[in-house]
Amino acid sequence: MASGDDDKSYWNATAEPTRFPQLKGDMEVDVAIIGGGIVGITTARLLKEMGKTVAVIEARRVGREVTGKSTAKMTSQHSIIYQTLERKFGEDRARLYGEAQERAIREMQRLATHYEVSADIEAMPAFCYTRDEKHVAEIEKEVEVTQRLGLPASLVRGDIGLPYDVLAAIRFDAQAQFHPTRYVAGLAETLPGDGSHVFENSRAVDWEPTRVVTDTGTVSAAIVVMATHLPLGQVGGYYAMAYPKAEPVIVAPIGRAPPGMYINAEQPSHSIRTHRGPDGKIYAIAAGQSFKPGHTDEERQNFADLERWLASFDAGPIAYRWVNEDYTSMDSAPFIGWSSSTRDGYLVATGFDAWGISNGTAAAMILADLATGKDGHPWLDVFDSTRIKPVAGGGEFVKENASVAAHLVAGYLSSKPKDYDALEPGQAAIMKIDGDNVAAFKDETGTVHAVSAVCSHMGCLVGWNETDRTWDCPCHGSRFELSGRVIHGPATRPLGSKITG
Ligand code: FES
Repeated sequence: MASGDDDKSYWNATAEPTRFPQLKGDMEVDVAIIGGGIVGITTARLLKEMGKTVAVIEARRVGREVTGKSTAKMTSQHSIIYQTLERKFGEDRARLYGEAQERAIREMQRLATHYEVSADIEAMPAFCYTRDEKHVAEIEKEVEVTQRLGLPASLVRGDIGLPYDVLAAIRFDAQAQFHPTRYVAGLAETLPGDGSHVFENSRAVDWEPTRVVTDTGTVSAAIVVMATHLPLGQVGGYYAMAYPKAEPVIVAPIGRAPPGMYINAEQPSHSIRTHRGPDGKIYAIAAGQSFKPGHTDEERQNFADLERWLASFDAGPIAYRWVNEDYTSMDSAPFIGWSSSTRDGYLVATGFDAWGISNGTAAAMILADLATGKDGHPWLDVFDSTRIKPVAGGGEFVKENASVAAHLVAGYLSSKPKDYDALEPGQAAIMKIDGDNVAAFKDETGTVHAVSAVCSHMGCLVGWNETDRTWDCPCHGSRFELSGRVIHGPATRPLGSKITG
């Protein structure tokens, strides 16, 4: 039985399938890129413009994992972040963060236009608003900071195009929304040829700074880029400096498209944007409050909250639902650049905190420069991937690592049911079988799908993702199909096998 079906995502279901070959045999290029999402494909496109040969090595299908499961806002308006960045990094580096996002948006528009990629890019203002008195001062402060940083921000109140009035909102102009799967797939189509390649269904199983190995071939290169959401395995130790967050996403038709992209400042978080579907209907793409991957009761609760909220838009029945994931660094800024300060490692990018479209494109712009021998990049003052430990956010760091330690010892669903017979159809549990921790799911036909519950990355117990029917690791965010196959890392090996029947 399949799980982790990519077509659960509205974006993937409304994009043409890609058909890139599998890597077979050995080859050599200038730069090997592991991962075919927005970071990997954009980096490859920019490098090819700079005269380099590239090979993108994607474990599944191009653009259909994290990028194809995002809300796909092209915006520098990242909720309330600039006052936080200014506090933690200072004004100059907060300005660099904003500049990087704005430049990334323009770069995406340039790439789509230049390569004639049909990605439904639509100009749209972005709003972060509050309906809670306690957050009004925070919004006002964010407007003051962002205006000072040179971002296109203004303060608005009352009617901002939502079904309800708001107490205060920050509005960013000259932003956009787009179709992420079509964008990444369209750019990927421009890559093959003149010594460059895109490979799908080609999972990296081993790597060195100048070589990537899959089960069916090897790519040698002067530089290897890990554009894999979180660097694979234990590269750079980023698994201990960024923690995973899952978020519920639902899509439903709505009668009237609000004239912007929106997110609120308070919790629970509610984000919305729209897209005109192939059937002509306007669909709302809504994301809700994040939760720890594999924590099923939080997942249920946050989906239910999101559905209640979306009902205020007079939405029709929910057509799509899925869980997306991203990593948050302990100091709010992504890690981009070399995985080691001696520059003999990998080029990496991670920790986009659910703002991976603009951060991912900015990362690609930096990585392409570094891969072509530039010594540095001005934006690295804020994104430097070798800042040994985050400059701030220590409390959160300690809390998250304590949580990892707890998941190493006991699973989240470890209490009941205790054996396969006690599972109801459609139910999953972590249970002890012959002394082993087993992740078991009974499907509607009564067949039990059972694998080891011990994550192949570093040994935490996985938890159940009820929406996508996958096993998700709360510690560092690896995701696995029911069969134990990796959906995405940092794990690269499947969950161990157990009796299935
Ligand atoms: Fe690291 Fe599971 S992802 S232990």
